[in-house]
Amino acid sequence: MERFEGQTAIVTGAASGIGAAIAASLAREGARVVAVDYDTSVKAAAAEYDGVPVVGDVTDPELGTELLATLARHGLGLDHLVGAAGIQVRAAGIDIEDADWQRLLNVNLSGFYRLLRTLVPPLEQGSHGSPGSVVAVTSMSGDRAVPGIVPYGSVKAALAHLIRGLAVELGPRGIRLNGIAPGYVSTPMTAPILEDPATLQRIMARLPLQHIAEPEEMTGPALFLLSREARYVTGQILAVDGGYALT
Ligand SMILES: NC(=O)c1ccc[n+]([C@@H]2O[C@H](COP(=O)([O-])OP(=O)(O)OC[C@H]3O[C@@H](n4cnc5c(N)ncnc54)[C@H](O)[C@@H]3O)[C@@H](O)[C@H]2O)c1
Repeated sequence: MERFEGQTAIVTGAASGIGAAIAASLAREGARVVAVDYDTSVKAAAAEYDGVPVVGDVTDPELGTELLATLARHGLGLDHLVGAAGIQVRAAGIDIEDADWQRLLNVNLSGFYRLLRTLVPPLEQGSHGSPGSVVAVTSMSGDRAVPGIVPYGSVKAALAHLIRGLAVELGPRGIRLNGIAPGYVSTPMTAPILEDPATLQRIMARLPLQHIAEPEEMTGPALFLLSREARYVTGQILAVDGGYALT
C-alpha cells in the first residue's frame, strides 16, 4: 500500500517548481491532490496525475471557502496542506516599494495563514478520522541575512514562526505543522539569479553538496514530514539546502 493511499492533499503553487514536484510525488504515492495555483497551467499539471485543479489566488479571502466546496463536490476529506505558492521580490531591504512589501506579505504569509485557518476543521477530522498534517515551504533566507532579498527573508522568517506557534496551538487537536527551508532550487523563481555566472559561482563556492537542487529533491523531505513516519515531529523547519546555511 502506498504511503498516502486514500488520502487527500491540497497543494498551493502546484503549477510550477517545488509545489508542482511535491504535488506530483504525493499523487505518485497514492494521494488525491487538489492542485491550486493562479496560473492556469495548473490544469495541465494536475491532469498528469488525475488531480483536481483549482485556479485561484492565495490572496483571495474566498479561496478557502472555494476549496471546502471543491472537497465537498468531490466527496473528499482533507489530510494534508502544502503551502508552496510564493513570490520573490529582489530589492535591498530599505529600497523595496511599499506595494512590493505588501505583495510579499500577502502571498507568502497571509495567503498561507488564511487558507490554513479555513482548512483547520477538515484537517482536524482527516478523511479517515485521524487528523492531518501541514508543510509550508519557507526558505534558508528566513534564517540568515541574504542581501538583496531581506524583505523576502523576513516574511519567510515570519512564516517559520507561524509554523512553530501554530504547531503548539494545534498539537492538542492532532494537527502537525512543519516546514522545509530550501536553499537554491532550479525553478522559474531563481532562474534570473542562477543565470548570472558570477552569482552562480559565488553560490557554488559555498555549497557543500556542490549542485543547485532540482525541485524533485524537495519532495522526499516534504513527504516525510507529511507522512505518518513523522507522526512525532511538529513545529520543525527542515533545511533542505545542500548544507548552504552551514557555511
Ligand atoms: N527556488 C528556490 O530556490 C526557493 C528557495 C527557497 C524557498 N522557495 C520557496 O518555494 C516556493 C515555491 O517556489 P518555486 O521556486 O517553486 O517558484 P515557482 O515560481 O516555480 O513556483 C511558485 C508557484 O506559486 C504560484 N503562485 C505565486 N503567487 C501565487 C498566488 N498569489 N496564488 C496562487 N499561486 C501563486 C506561481 O504561479 C507558481 O506556480 C515559494 O514559496 C518560494 O518562496 C524557493
